[in-house]
Amino acid sequence: MNYLITGGRIITATDDFFGDVLVEGETITAVGPALEAPDGVERIDATGKYVFPGFIDPHVHVYLPFMGTQAADTHETASRAALVGGTTTFIEMCCPANNEQPLEAFELWLEKAQTSSCDYTFHMGVSRFDQETRKQFEEIVKRGVASLKVFLAYKGAFSLSEEELYETLTFAKQYGLIVTAHCENAELIAKRQAELIGQGKTGPEWHEPSRPTYIEAEGVGRLMTYAETTGAHVYCVHTSCSDALEAVQTAQLRDVNVWVEVVLPHLVFDRSYAELPGFEGAKFVMSPPLREARHQEAMWNALRSRLVSTVGTDHAPFNFQGQKEMGRDDFTKIPNGIPSIENRVEVLYSEGVGKGRIDLNTFVDSASTQAAKLFGLYPRKGTIAVGSDADVVIFDPNAQREISQATHQMAVDYSAFEGWQQQGGVEHVLLRGTVKVRDGKFVGEPGTGEFLTREPTHF
Ligand code: URP
Ligand code: ZN
Ligand code: ZN
Ligand code: ZN
Repeated sequence: MNYLITGGRIITATDDFFGDVLVEGETITAVGPALEAPDGVERIDATGKYVFPGFIDPHVHVYLPFMGTQAADTHETASRAALVGGTTTFIEMCCPANNEQPLEAFELWLEKAQTSSCDYTFHMGVSRFDQETRKQFEEIVKRGVASLKVFLAYKGAFSLSEEELYETLTFAKQYGLIVTAHCENAELIAKRQAELIGQGKTGPEWHEPSRPTYIEAEGVGRLMTYAETTGAHVYCVHTSCSDALEAVQTAQLRDVNVWVEVVLPHLVFDRSYAELPGFEGAKFVMSPPLREARHQEAMWNALRSRLVSTVGTDHAPFNFQGQKEMGRDDFTKIPNGIPSIENRVEVLYSEGVGKGRIDLNTFVDSASTQAAKLFGLYPRKGTIAVGSDADVVIFDPNAQREISQATHQMAVDYSAFEGWQQQGGVEHVLLRGTVKVRDGKFVGEPGTGEFLTREPTHF
């Protein structure tokens, strides 16, 4: 089926105009005012609506064995949630444990993702770097992965030694890969956690004090030094505070190639959510933690000024019952993560554009275009242009919706946004020319998402 999307207000990272979009097969074949309708096309009336490029979530976890349990979504449920929320491509962290073979892990993750109805690719997690794994990473790059993920946090699980960090960044520089990094000081967090638990401070409200902003800033600063030394291009994931932004800014002044991601929870929740009584706060435990409200203002500001390039989610869905509850007597055992793959685009629109914090171009740029550019998907993804994949979101700015676990698609037993009133909403979504969401309802099929192969660009 071919489609002519008519009369909408088309927004890209740089443009804003009224026009039509012609979709033939999987591709956009024309964009402009009053296009002719070829025989047999279906018209989609977008009058009064925005026409956005499909959104890209640069940071999600779907299959994730972590902290003694496993994330609750499957690729089938997470991709459906992504699509109804306007996300047509996600980049998942492929996170093997340090005693696993990276190539086997990559193949396992590919296998798991077979049920996705959303397009996807992976940041390849490096939890061990030596001669054996190096060969496997070379093979994974040949198979179309152009970005890596390192953890400076999670002592004893994912965190790398400093020597491995150096070797990984040197490898990345040689192969033109961008290295995404979770920046916190694993050692200091372990020490503070033990101290707090020893003092009987066991509730979720102690999660933030166990990893304060300066411990995140230290991680960022350390990554900057390694990037400066090796010349590797790096990307700080889920940056949560002004201290970390300062560490990035000073490095940029030294010509370090660094980009910054903020994730939705850090923009819209402050640390008081993790202090909710009755262990409710556990729903808001993620790392880096939710911060004091002044850091939210810093992150919005940095998004406006484009010191922050992208908005992701760090979707990491753990049920409240049976999973978050594992940490009832010890906050260090609460599986980290706030499920939000479904909410990113709409809440960013509602809280960002709707409340005058960011403009429409910044919204599209940070939620789609920048991720495509940084991770080797542009211009196939991330814009509305002739020749691009026909990934299109038709968005009704006048829709009013209430967010609830009762109606969401994510396979998790709570919504962090329960009861939130949302201004604007996703109406229709096309992915490579196929309608996946019609009138807000998922109409896609599991397994129709594609693994997107990418070429390295960060030399
Ligand atoms: O709390 C988080 N962020 N959970 C997922 C793992 C990670 O650190 O990205
Ligand atoms: Zn992380
Ligand atoms: Zn993550
Ligand atoms: Zn680069």
